[in-house]
Amino acid sequence: MTRYPLEPDADEMRSLVDEAMSRIIPHIESLPSQPASNVEGATEYARTLIEPLPQRGESYETLLDFLFNDAIPRSFTAAGPGYVAYVPGGGLFHSAVADLIADAVNRYVGVCAAAPALVQLEANVVRWFCEIVGYPRTAGGVLTSGGSLAAFTAVVTARKALLPDDFLKGTLYCSNQVHHSFQKAANLAGFPYANVRELPVDDQFRIRIDALEDAIARDRADGWTPFLVAGSAGTTGTGAVDDLEALGRVAQQNKMWFHVDGAYGALFMLTERGRAAMRGIEQADSMILDPHKTLFLPFGTGAVLVKDANTLRRAHSLHADYLPAMQNADELVDFCEVSPELSRDFRGLRVWLPLKLFGIEPFREQLDEKLDLIQYTVDELRKIDGIEIVAEPQLTITAFGVVRASGAPSAAGDPHHSNDLTRELMRRINAKKHVLLTPTTLPDGRFVIRIAIVSHRTHRDRIDLMLDDIRESVRELS
Ligand SMILES: Cc1ncc(COP(=O)(O)O)c(C=O)c1O
Repeated sequence: MTRYPLEPDADEMRSLVDEAMSRIIPHIESLPSQPASNVEGATEYARTLIEPLPQRGESYETLLDFLFNDAIPRSFTAAGPGYVAYVPGGGLFHSAVADLIADAVNRYVGVCAAAPALVQLEANVVRWFCEIVGYPRTAGGVLTSGGSLAAFTAVVTARKALLPDDFLKGTLYCSNQVHHSFQKAANLAGFPYANVRELPVDDQFRIRIDALEDAIARDRADGWTPFLVAGSAGTTGTGAVDDLEALGRVAQQNKMWFHVDGAYGALFMLTERGRAAMRGIEQADSMILDPHKTLFLPFGTGAVLVKDANTLRRAHSLHADYLPAMQNADELVDFCEVSPELSRDFRGLRVWLPLKLFGIEPFREQLDEKLDLIQYTVDELRKIDGIEIVAEPQLTITAFGVVRASGAPSAAGDPHHSNDLTRELMRRINAKKHVLLTPTTLPDGRFVIRIAIVSHRTHRDRIDLMLDDIRESVRELS
């Protein structure tokens, strides 16, 4: 019988997976003891890996050794419990198994006709997300690779719904704290950066509604066409949730599209506290959310939801003679008709499998635990002499800094705050390697340390370790 090297037989398939599993399991089990970050020298190491196209194969074992001993450890331990940097992802193992299944069966889900049942599973996932955020039955959406592509899809949809083909008079509004993927989405959708108005925030880092209304009125008087207001349901810097009810009202009064960046925050709608913080989110014409953040999935899963699914279809639908017939029924969807993609992975399975396996309750519990943990963290930080909370948590992100000793230089916005000491404190905490913290700079120039508690692997024991490290580092500073 002819043997083709690219087609393993049953024993080979089993051993490929078994050998990978024999590395993956100890790797995941050792996550709590891995350093929170291990990137010293990693860039130099990366340069040594540049190589020409391989002409011959190497042994599987050698390649696994390379991955698990050399490449993977030289990174942020983004899947570990100490990752409270940026906005953490998760890495549900069940989703990894779903990816294996999806890739191995490799069915085509770009058009409904090719795998109607599988497309329906993914469409169900989108519908469940709509349900979570309080959208009506008319809503729809699509899973993307992440929040950035979701934002791009939303802005293109809004542009096509409200503006003519010659759209350069259109202006967009957001706070100066919005995630930069929004400005990037606007730019990729054809708007010069100058058409995006970044507005000031209040003392809780939420967009100032008076500034928004003034800017819209001024632009209209100057001959611009204000057409999109973007709110944040959880900013990356300080976790701020804009006043979504007020933003919805302003958008409606001005006949503008209301978009919400809920990449980090929207899935907190599963919790009572989240629903209270994000009142008004359901008014949004479009929103994005990232299951690879607050549903603990592996990186590569975002979602865009729109209140009127037809707007998404009108913006993306295009006929081609070589494709199968598209569905003309409301309850069936061709993903290529509602997104920029045609061929794509079957990313719905990585959401569908864990949700079907567990139901939604354990996810809700995890998010509630994170809301408790951030409150506990802030309460403990407040007890440390020399620490000031700069951003109270609105969801599960907080920001803090170091109060300067009298006589030392202060940051521009706050006479008590020291950027230098805050920077040094963060360096010392991170050097202990139990957690990885990242900073941001506030509009007034203050450098602050953020704590973002999101991962399903971060629990009270790791938060206590972090607090011990912070206390010790503060002592070292003085
Ligand atoms: C609030 C917010 N919006 C949008 C994004 C962009 O999402 P992604 O990285 O999935 O493209 C992020 C990423 O961290 C974010 O925190």
